[in-house]
Amino acid sequence: MTLVELRGAEVTYRRAGHPFVALRDVDFAVDKGERVGIVGGSGSGKTTMARLMLGLQAPSAGDVLVHGRSIVDLPERRRGFLRASASMVFQDPNSSLNPRMRLRDIVGEPLRSPVLAGRIAVSGRRDEAVAEALGSVGIGPEMMDRFPHELSGGQRQRVAMARALISDPDLLVADEPVSALDVSVRAQVLNLLAAEVRERSLALVLVSHDLAVVRHLCERVVVVNEGAIVEQGSVAEVLEHPQHPYTAELIDATLSL
Ligand SMILES: Nc1ncnc2c1ncn2[C@@H]1O[C@H](COP(=O)(O)OP(=O)(O)OP(=O)(O)O)[C@@H](O)[C@H]1O
Ligand SMILES: [Mg+2]
Repeated sequence: MTLVELRGAEVTYRRAGHPFVALRDVDFAVDKGERVGIVGGSGSGKTTMARLMLGLQAPSAGDVLVHGRSIVDLPERRRGFLRASASMVFQDPNSSLNPRMRLRDIVGEPLRSPVLAGRIAVSGRRDEAVAEALGSVGIGPEMMDRFPHELSGGQRQRVAMARALISDPDLLVADEPVSALDVSVRAQVLNLLAAEVRERSLALVLVSHDLAVVRHLCERVVVVNEGAIVEQGSVAEVLEHPQHPYTAELIDATLSL
């Protein structure tokens, strides 16, 4: 079953009054339970692809389908189901977590969407759900009233993960989830991410410039360069027999360290 699909997706930004094509004719689909890495250099269009999948931005051309339904022309009030089907963990928890909100509200916020509010009818159960989500990422209930600045970087990203998981999505999109973190906590956060994905049988789209991380967490990989998919296949296949010179370059740059 296909969870999310980009069909001939294009994104054109305007830069200094000029159109700039950030994604061209991208076809990409994620199936239930599948773990896919998106790799590519800086500015190649990875974050733009991720944002399209979550309906956070619209394509300039082409289509985005979630559970087989096009979301491109869907009015805002009918987008609620997106909240329950896919979540995103952003690169930098310092900017993705509202500094003026306590953890209880940050993590509980997705439950306010009408689709999810039905699941958690009583407000007492909301706190319970928040505590459970925080617990699953190793953060105790005594921390629920803290603000993001009262946490370490690794804890902040774990809070972002709890917020992404509380809606019980079938797809998690993680955009460079550890690159803003201290090297010493990266492995811990990645291992936690891997464990959650496994336990919940989640599909994962992992944006990374680090092929070693993709090899560790994903079974399939898509290589993007200058807004286009230049190669894709199983991780083993692509890493052992890269077809595109750009992929070979990426492998040399990251795996030879
Ligand atoms: N809002 C925007 N307005 C104009 N140009 C943009 C905008 N967002 C992204 N771009 C440009 O589009 C291209 C793709 O950006 P994107 O953020 O998707 O790349 P990326 O692969 O995620 O890069 P990085 O690895 O540095 O995060 C880049 O050249 C970027 O400068
Ligand atoms: Mg990016």
